[in-house]
Amino acid sequence: MRRGVLVLAAALVLAGSAAAETVSMTLGRSVNRPGAPSVAPTSSARGLFVLHCSGCHGRDGAGAIDVPDMHQLGQFLRLDGGREFIVKVPGVMNAGLSDAQIADVTNWVLANFAQQTLPAGHRPYDAAEIARARQAPLVDVEAARKSLLAQARSRNVELR
Ligand code: HEC
Repeated sequence: MRRGVLVLAAALVLAGSAAAETVSMTLGRSVNRPGAPSVAPTSSARGLFVLHCSGCHGRDGAGAIDVPDMHQLGQFLRLDGGREFIVKVPGVMNAGLSDAQIADVTNWVLANFAQQTLPAGHRPYDAAEIARARQAPLVDVEAARKSLLAQARSRNVELR
């Protein structure tokens, strides 16, 4: 009797994992069906932008009321603290992305929207730099942005 229960339990475990496999295979198939909405965008920097950023910043990065235009982002890289600031804003840090994904999406945004304002010799972000930035979060994004705007004015860096 005891053994019977064990055998039954083992059979259930096997059946369960087979069922889980079937479910994941089925999901995989439905996701990859031609013409079906794909979850693949997370694998590319552009996809990360579309999924996690464009809702507020717009597909073209032009922003909206209270959402800054991304075309001027290169100007931050000319300011003390600006390089950290643009990866520490809440929309970036709270997007649920890994350090490597944040580096990728930020590099993509800079290369695609801000190429006109990037300083010469600009060096892309990497995951290690994002990890360091995470260790000292922004406490007041508005105050930090204001102080960068003041710095920009005093240094004739055009920033709105
Ligand atoms: C919920 C809306 C929202 C989402 C989603 C969002 N942002 Fe933002 N973003 C803002 C707002 C608003 C600001 C202005 C600063 C602030 O108030 O946080 C901003 C500021 C920024 C800045 C600094 C630019 C500046 O001029 O201050 C960068 C860089 C940025 N966002 C990048 C991103 C990226 C990359 C993503 C996706 C991973 C993203 N944001 C997602 C709303 C959003």
